Amino acid sequence: MIEMHVVRGDNSHLYEAELDQYFRGRYEVYVRERGWKDLERPDGRDIDQFDTEEAVHILAVENKEVVGGRRMNPTTSPTLLSEVFPNASLLPLIRSPDVFETSRLWVARHKRGDRTRPRVESLLHAATMEFALAAGLSKTRTLFETWWIPRFQRIGWKMHPLGLPLKIDGLNCIAVTFEVAESIWVETCVKGSVPGPVLIWHGTTQPAYHLPELAHAVA
Ligand code: COA
Repeated sequence: MIEMHVVRGDNSHLYEAELDQYFRGRYEVYVRERGWKDLERPDGRDIDQFDTEEAVHILAVENKEVVGGRRMNPTTSPTLLSEVFPNASLLPLIRSPDVFETSRLWVARHKRGDRTRPRVESLLHAATMEFALAAGLSKTRTLFETWWIPRFQRIGWKMHPLGLPLKIDGLNCIAVTFEVAESIWVETCVKGSVPGPVLIWHGTTQPAYHLPELAHAVA
């Protein structure tokens, strides 16, 4: 069974081994597989200036192995878009406690194209929307490669461009905001065979929120 953990500043001491795997997993995917040379480090971990105490990491863990993840940063602090790629947005970037920026979505290679449902990617999308609802976010934003657009459309995510597509290291990218809504979470879960809320808030404050079980609606 794949568990989805919320890991952030106040509970990171409980997840030292998992966080180390997560940063190594990011390195494997982004540096070795995708060839993002700017992230190269001698210690084989992808850790940058946005992996702060305030960052929230969603970890997908199967039998103690971290098989995927995503990072979320509050926009009240510096983010990848505000500091590194401000030109990706034609609009002034919002800095607000109810808007988080997501980045570094990855799934371990041996878990991709997996026929077992829910797939890790589906769990990560459902977990991200669940976190956004739990934290009272109004939207999230990201900078991604344009091939993601139809993938997010297929799972019901409603996006709004922040700027025009641009080339980054030869890749077509675009900055967008995503709406946050319970109905979108439901659609994400139903389409991805996720049977309800998935987040585990071990050692960190769980906000009061209620989302329905969806097992009856999930194939
Ligand atoms: N460019 C274009 N399409 C890509 C792609 C890329 N770099 N990476 C994956 N895809 C497409 C595949 O072509 C495939 O399309 P299809 O379903 O129409 O055949 C689909 O995504 C499935 O990809 P796959 O890797 O087999 O499995 P998955 O759906 O379980 O995982 C990812 C998808 C993106 C999560 C996974 O490929 C991954 O972790 N990639 C590395 C991290 C990454 O590139 N993140 C995005 C940074 S913006």
